Amino acid sequence: MERAFINFVFCGLLLLIGCVSSTTVRDLDPLIRRDLLANGLANTPPMGWNSWNHFSCKIDEKMIKETADALVSTGLAKLGYKYVNIDDCWAEIARDDKGNLVPKKSTFPSGIKALADYVHNKGLKLGIYSDAGYFTCSQTMPGSLGHEEQDAKTFASWGIDYLKYDNCFNDGSKPTVRYPVMTRALMKAGRPIFFSLCEWGDLHPALWGAKIGNSWRTTGDIADTWESMTSRIDMNDVYAELARPGGWNDPDMLEVGNGGMTKDEYISHFSLWAISKAPLLIGCDVRNATKETMQIISNSEVIAVNQDALGVQGKKVRMEGDQEVWAGPLSGYRVAVVLQNRGPHRINITARWDDIGIPPNSVVEARDLWLHKTLKKQFVGHLTATMNGHACKMFILKPIS
Ligand SMILES: *[C@@H]1O[C@H](CO)[C@@H](O)[C@H](O)[C@H]1NC(C)=O
Ligand SMILES: *[C@@H]1O[C@H](CO)[C@@H](O)[C@H](O)[C@H]1NC(C)=O
Repeated sequence: MERAFINFVFCGLLLLIGCVSSTTVRDLDPLIRRDLLANGLANTPPMGWNSWNHFSCKIDEKMIKETADALVSTGLAKLGYKYVNIDDCWAEIARDDKGNLVPKKSTFPSGIKALADYVHNKGLKLGIYSDAGYFTCSQTMPGSLGHEEQDAKTFASWGIDYLKYDNCFNDGSKPTVRYPVMTRALMKAGRPIFFSLCEWGDLHPALWGAKIGNSWRTTGDIADTWESMTSRIDMNDVYAELARPGGWNDPDMLEVGNGGMTKDEYISHFSLWAISKAPLLIGCDVRNATKETMQIISNSEVIAVNQDALGVQGKKVRMEGDQEVWAGPLSGYRVAVVLQNRGPHRINITARWDDIGIPPNSVVEARDLWLHKTLKKQFVGHLTATMNGHACKMFILKPIS
C-alpha cells in the first residue's frame, strides 16, 4: 500500500517534470538559450557559511568579522569553507538619492567594502543577498528588480564574490524572465560573482538554471528538523541528472549545529548533502560550535566526496521501507555510498553492486568515512551494514580486482 503510494507520487513527479520540460523550456526568454553565464566558477559545489539559518535578521559587521575569524581559527577555511555569506537584512529600507543600495548604518556602519576587504585579507570570500523583486523577503530592504545593473555594479565595486538572489515580492513575471536580467548585469559588471538562484524550485530551475546561475534552489526553505531535512533532499534528488561542474542543485543550507536534530540525524544530513553535491554552506554559529558539530562539518573525507573532480551528483538508487541506498561515481573508478536508515529502529541495509554501478564480480575495498577506517574485509557483490534509527553509514568503495 505504502510503496504503491510512493510509486504513484514518484511517477506523478516524473510526469510533472516531463510537462514542464516540454512547455516552459520552449517559452523561455530567448536569451536563456544562449550560454549566458560564463564566469568560470563552481567547478565543485560552493563551501562556506551563511547567516540566515542561525541569525535570520540579527546580523551586524562585528558578527560577520568574528565568523570570518572563526572559519580561519577552527581550520574550517582550510577545509574549503571559503564563502562568508551575508543573507537578508543588511541594507537600509531606502536607496540613496542616486538609487544605490545603502548598507544599514546601525549594523554595518563601516560599509560592505570594508567588510569585503577584511574578509579577503583572511583569504576568504564575501557573499551578499538580494531579491528579484521590489523588496527582499524580510521587507526590511529593497530588492534589485529594475535596478539589476546598478546593483550588480555596486556589488562588484565592493568586491562581492557571491550573490544569493531571492524571489519575494516580485511583479508576477516568470523567474525565467527576471533571473537572467541579473545574470547579464553580473556578467557586465566584470567581476566573477557566484550567482545563487533562490527561486525555491517553483518553476523547476534545475531545467533552466545552468545558463543563468551557478546553483539553483530545488526546494523551499529548510527547517532544523528531520522531516524538513529529508524532504528537501528527496525533492532535490529528482533533478540529480541536471547538476554538473559550473551549476549545482541546491536543497538549501546546512542546519548542522543549530540544535534541532540528533547527532546521528546531523551526520545523515551532512552525508546526504555531500553525496548529492549540494552546496556545503554552514548555517550555525561557528564562533561557538560544539566539538560534536565541528567533528561533523570538519569530516574531510566526506567533504572530499562533495568536492570530487568528477562532479556527478549521487542519487537514491534503492528504497525499501526504511532502507535507502544512495550512490554516485567518483574519480578514479571509485563509488561513494550512503546507507541511510529513514526509520526509528536499528536495521541492516545492503548496497548491491548492480544498484551502485560496480561490475558484478568485482572485489571491493571499503573505506568507512565516519569511522575513518578501511575495512579489513573485502566485499564481492554486496556490502551490508547495520545502523541505528535515523543514522547512516558512508563508504567509498574501490574495486581492486
Ligand atoms: C554558545 O553556546 C552555548 C551553548 O552551546 C550558549 O549557552 C551560549 O549562549 C553561546 N554563546 C554565544 C555567544 O552565542
Ligand atoms: C543484521 O544482519 C546480521 C547478519 O545477517 C544479523 O545477525 C543481525 O541480526 C541483523 N541485524 C538486524 C538489526 O537486523
